[in-house]
Amino acid sequence: MITLGINYSQMHDSSACLVRDGELVFAVAEERISRAKHDARFPQNAIRACLDFAHIKVEQLNNVCFGWQVPGAAFRHDLKCYASGKMPVTYTNVLNSTLHYLSMWHQVGGAKRFTQIFGETKARMRFVGHHLAHALSAYAYSGFDEAAVVVMDGRGAWEATSIWHGGDGRLEHVLTIPFPDSIGYFYSEFTEYLGFQCNSDEWKVMGLAPYGKPGVDLRVFIEPEAAPYRVHARKLAVKGEAPFAEIVRLCGPRRIPESEIDNRHKDIAYAVQDACEIAMMSVVKMAIEKTNSRNVCLAGGVALNSKANGKIVVSGLVDKIFVQPAASDDGVAPGAALAPYLDSGGCLPMRPMRHAYLGPEFDDEAIENALRTYKLKYSRLSDAAATAAELLSNGKILGWFQGRMEFGPRALGSRSILADPRDPEMRAKVNSAVKFREWWRPFAPSFKKEAAGDYLESATDSPFMILTAQVKPEKRSIIPSVTHVDGSARPQTVEKEINPLYWRLIEEFAKRTGVPVIMNTSFNLRGEAIVHTPTDAVRTFFSSGMDALLIGSFLVEK
Ligand SMILES: [Fe+2]
Repeated sequence: MITLGINYSQMHDSSACLVRDGELVFAVAEERISRAKHDARFPQNAIRACLDFAHIKVEQLNNVCFGWQVPGAAFRHDLKCYASGKMPVTYTNVLNSTLHYLSMWHQVGGAKRFTQIFGETKARMRFVGHHLAHALSAYAYSGFDEAAVVVMDGRGAWEATSIWHGGDGRLEHVLTIPFPDSIGYFYSEFTEYLGFQCNSDEWKVMGLAPYGKPGVDLRVFIEPEAAPYRVHARKLAVKGEAPFAEIVRLCGPRRIPESEIDNRHKDIAYAVQDACEIAMMSVVKMAIEKTNSRNVCLAGGVALNSKANGKIVVSGLVDKIFVQPAASDDGVAPGAALAPYLDSGGCLPMRPMRHAYLGPEFDDEAIENALRTYKLKYSRLSDAAATAAELLSNGKILGWFQGRMEFGPRALGSRSILADPRDPEMRAKVNSAVKFREWWRPFAPSFKKEAAGDYLESATDSPFMILTAQVKPEKRSIIPSVTHVDGSARPQTVEKEINPLYWRLIEEFAKRTGVPVIMNTSFNLRGEAIVHTPTDAVRTFFSSGMDALLIGSFLVEK
């Protein structure tokens, strides 16, 4: 059985994937190919990449699965929210809901667009509930026989949070908390109020939070301790002439984007993150109680909150945890694509996801062609890992472009910018010379898996950088540029069997320095998608302060 999974909602993070006989063989977000970050358009480039990679023709597809309900479900729910007073009836709100519905209805949820672009197909077009698709993406790739599955996002069609019970390769729905009672909505509204872009920059609020201190009371907007939590969306939702009126009344003026960050902003970020962590913990606790399982699977955009995930790990509530690395909506494609396996009482394939190297790759011939096209001086390497380690130990900042691109928001050693984590100035150097991003945003470490326990108090099996852990106090001064102000880090643990080249790079760095840790950030400039092609890599390399580019078997230096 060959199934194409698609995320297309016109909201954010369109994506596509291909599942063949239960195996996820390829997945890519549209943004990587189109170069428009969080691209919400129909993922025609991503679909084409799936078909090309697997040498599949549209006629061979058995199913095309969209990770959303048929158009209309969201619109009907919005109308109910307006009628019941849960959301304010404003011209903008009603217009946006109506236009979105009409557009999706016209495209038959994307099915019509698919046949217009790719031609008629015998494949069955299926529309999988959005939270079911998220839940499948967490449970089926966890490898757990039994699990409490929790989905938390901004919104699905009508869902905000849902709990599922996974067992014997099937999922049973336990409960749903409907939108707008949504942790994701609460977080994204404050992200925008703090001068950042909602559904994109929530990371920045999470990174800023440890610089703040307790004291800001947000209980008018969220009751995180309640079981289940409650979000008072009406207070958050006032837009139009008086945007964020209630937040402004209680917390002061909205921050103008790119303006100075002051202590008030830091304290608000602290309070937002704190409320989110408490609310997430309360949902996870409820899921464990209702399912009687201490293996927890998480998905949905809120599950990208690595800080909260790290606290769940050390809470003592859970035995095992799996967070879908593409927790945001790009990840509903691989979830939806598994829905056909549940037909007629069937079971999910249950293949544990141990890596996210699911995207396109470019061989040395394609890379060399690109380097020649741009008339670059380059050399061929006999050992890219050793060369990279030598350059890193000499303080160089590297572009690292190797193998298949990662699926999900994190760079995990395929499309990465690498640096020496021992240099306390390295964070500032990379921030100002390469990433051009805000000073407070932390960088993450890649550890040799065997060595993670020497440095970290938890999260020593963390292949996806989606859990934070505390760095042991005596190790913080050894890797200062990847240790956040509160002593935390967002580690990637690298396994030799899974990414031998990247593992060996860290090993070679350890041989030279005694430290089996590399600073790893995504290979992109601020506001851009992670690089996809050799051309993207070369362009980004020459638009930044990186010292060298290791691309396939080649080295380009400035
Ligand atoms: Fe979602």
